[in-house]
Amino acid sequence: MLRTHTCGDLNADHVGKTVVLSGWVHRRRDHGGLIFIDLRDRYGFTQIVSDPENKAIFKIAEKVRPEWVIKIEGTVRKRLEGAERTDNPTGQIEVLISSFEILNEAKTPPFEIDQDKEVNEELRLEYRYLDLRRESMQKNMIMRHKLQQATRKFFYDRDFLEIETPILIKGTPEGAREYLVPSRVHKGEFYVLPQSPQQLKQLTMIAGLDRYMQIARCFRDEDLRGDRQPEFTQMDLEMSFVEAEDVMQLNEEALTSLTKELRPDVKIKQSPWPRFTYEQAMNLYGSDKPDIRFDLAFTDVTELCKDAGFSVFANAVKSGGVVKAMRVPGGSDFSRKDIDELTEIAKIYGAKGLAWIKVTAEGFDGVPVTKLGDDLTKHIGALCKAEKGDLLLFAADQFDTACVSLGAVRTDIARRKNLADPKLFAFCWITDFPMFEKDKETGDLVAMHHPFTRPKKEFEASLTSDPTAAKAEAYDVALNGYEIGGGSIRIHEEKLQKSVFDALKISDDDAEKRFGHMLNAFKFGAPPHGGIAWGLDRIAMIFADAPNIREVIAYPKDQKAKDVMLGAPSMIPEKQLSELGIKVLEEE
Ligand code: AMO
Repeated sequence: MLRTHTCGDLNADHVGKTVVLSGWVHRRRDHGGLIFIDLRDRYGFTQIVSDPENKAIFKIAEKVRPEWVIKIEGTVRKRLEGAERTDNPTGQIEVLISSFEILNEAKTPPFEIDQDKEVNEELRLEYRYLDLRRESMQKNMIMRHKLQQATRKFFYDRDFLEIETPILIKGTPEGAREYLVPSRVHKGEFYVLPQSPQQLKQLTMIAGLDRYMQIARCFRDEDLRGDRQPEFTQMDLEMSFVEAEDVMQLNEEALTSLTKELRPDVKIKQSPWPRFTYEQAMNLYGSDKPDIRFDLAFTDVTELCKDAGFSVFANAVKSGGVVKAMRVPGGSDFSRKDIDELTEIAKIYGAKGLAWIKVTAEGFDGVPVTKLGDDLTKHIGALCKAEKGDLLLFAADQFDTACVSLGAVRTDIARRKNLADPKLFAFCWITDFPMFEKDKETGDLVAMHHPFTRPKKEFEASLTSDPTAAKAEAYDVALNGYEIGGGSIRIHEEKLQKSVFDALKISDDDAEKRFGHMLNAFKFGAPPHGGIAWGLDRIAMIFADAPNIREVIAYPKDQKAKDVMLGAPSMIPEKQLSELGIKVLEEE
């Protein structure tokens, strides 16, 4: 027998018992003849002791090093008074070793397993199996497991069927580049890895399965960030005969219940969750996923600034733009350097600069003050509810640039001033997204969510004549500044689907080639339906209080989309490529 108990099992009730334990040497301490080893496994740590009287055992105990795998037999005894630990469930006891076996030796690990010291991430990823031995990573894996288990239970209890959808499919457009898989049997043809199971879950509704959910793997070849991986997991859901309100309420209930179960220590800021239209969210916070744990909301001062003597403001308004102000309570202590740094952040998002006014004991101070004049400055100050000691920051630009750049500054100020309470979960819904947006590179119209999203009823008729005005029956859920989910009511009629393709300038021919299966399925009694998908990695990250999603993914890719442990992607032998009819061109 390799073990009678785990390393987390034993306590004072076991004193006197003979036990067998197996695990890793976590730490080894020599104490005046006695050797103490902290034996570790997934369940905890147990102190095991070798006394010098048993020479054979003592010799082995002297030899073992961290991360060696050992098996011991011994007797549980109470620790000496004063040596008990209350921070460890096994802290009252220790095991006196009577038999000691080395199951496997270990090289010195490239980083210490027993400390949460900062370790270079590439090294952690290369030796992920060692990184995952660390207590903090094990906690993250357990949190993620519990999140998935509780999610499944919530939806299974409500009649949802978990249905697996294929990974080798024909593309489903979610806005990113697709991963392709060549076919050997059909040379020159490719499968596409799903960016999400979007079309398949809709087809599942047409199949009459009514309530679908799946913890689904998705693949997107896009630029990576802390909350983005090329391969990630969604809790994907679809329901028939529902309106947006039904989907939103059920999901609000689900995420509230998961929070209460898995993070009983946090407070949900507001319930029911606040809702903002896309326009309101942009206007107030410069983001469609605002962190509303803190306020720092914007005030629109466009109207006041249209004839202002300060040309930066007046010109922005004249060219169809806006002037947005953000009041930073107590921000007048920001130095010139602080403000320069904030300006740099605004510039990343396209702003030309960041104007500021401080409210000091002597009055208003800052470049715009003299140009705006006393009255207008006061007027602006009053509109922003500025008080002594505050800082006002201004973005004057086209609507999107002004809002988004000031939004980024808002996030950074919250970080500098520690405004975001880690023990607060501030969920909110964002609704009424535009149906379409302009692609930044090509200027072409693209779907803001995906082309199966239903327009709001009042925009159905004008969809092709005035597409940019159309709003979608779509909703996103944000938590503490992250977009953790998004969904919509779908189109279930062929005609309406075709008009969205028209608006997107997808020809009938092209639509038939790419989405013929959907258009065809709509002809066979498609029910009204809608759904949502959560970014499960992001939710696990927030629940685990982790700084990025790689910390809650067992085997993530690095920032360059590489698996540095497996060495993927990698070159494929010529023979295998030729079977696929593929020739790799030399890069120029
Ligand atoms: P969407 O594209 O908004 O919607 O994706 C849903 C949620 O998935 C998460 N997410 C990601 N997480 C990690 N890495 C990524 N690269 C990544 N991309 C997205 C986000 C996002 O909110 N089919 C639709 C859903 C629907 O309409 O039902 C979809 O995929 O948290």
